[in-house]
Amino acid sequence: MNNFVFLNGDFIPFEDAHLSIYDHGFMYGDGAFEGIRAYNGEVFRLKDHVHRLYNACKALWINMPYGEDVFAENMKKLVKMNEVKDAYIRVTVSRGVSLGLDPKKIKCDPTVVISTSQLALYPESAYQNGLDVVTVATRVAAPDILEPRIKSTGKYVANIQAKMEANFVGAGEGLMLTPNGYVAECTGDNIFFVKDGEVCTPAAFLGILEGITRKTVLEILDAQGIKVKQGTFTRFDLYTADEAFLTGTAAEVIPMVQLDGRPIADGKPGPLTLDTLKRFREFTQKWRN
Ligand SMILES: Cc1ncc(COP(=O)(O)O)c(C=O)c1O
Repeated sequence: MNNFVFLNGDFIPFEDAHLSIYDHGFMYGDGAFEGIRAYNGEVFRLKDHVHRLYNACKALWINMPYGEDVFAENMKKLVKMNEVKDAYIRVTVSRGVSLGLDPKKIKCDPTVVISTSQLALYPESAYQNGLDVVTVATRVAAPDILEPRIKSTGKYVANIQAKMEANFVGAGEGLMLTPNGYVAECTGDNIFFVKDGEVCTPAAFLGILEGITRKTVLEILDAQGIKVKQGTFTRFDLYTADEAFLTGTAAEVIPMVQLDGRPIADGKPGPLTLDTLKRFREFTQKWRN
């Protein structure tokens, strides 16, 4: 296994990859990123991730130096060069290098980094027994402050604060609400629940990241004829749900069995959750770009 990094058009050893101390990503969190997995040497949902990154850059007014296809090819090349089969790929883009915040005074040559590593967020027992989740005080930003649909690096200061709140009480994840108190998402995952036979997930417009794992799960459920209600929900809906689970590239599909001390149903992963987890794992193993 090698450890090359893609940095601004070059494939270089990890040890040689250095950034300016005046990089806008480091100085101001002025950038966007993606977390992606490779399974069996195939980058899972490569086009979706690259497209989401490019949409984020478009919204942030960062001009990428190459098109989506070239970017995707570079990512595939890095996975090959590093000889990794199952990997966590991190893509980070920043606006460029400058001390001041005014983009007018920056050369605006984006810094672009792709790296591969290993990441196991939870032990296998957590996938069998489920996670305890707590509602945290830190909310997702209102879309007119920091659009949660943009995976911007700066936005994640809030998610890290929220994760620390969850860690502080020993919870597996932190549930973040919208500014109006509706269920949004966890610090690095989307949320699904089942109630009275209906599968539900917060609607994208509420201020969530439109997760690619969420999209995959929607497709897996749709293929079985299971429709999902995308709407506005409160914690009451989760407290009284029959089952719940979280979805994200890092966590994949993981049961959620408790919220704020209240067991969800009998406090064990539900049947649709376990079936979706199984189908998701099969889906990732079969993925070909
Ligand atoms: C805040 C947030 N919500 C949801 C997700 C899940 O998105 P995806 O499935 O694309 O990884 C992530 C993952 O990065 C996230 O950070």
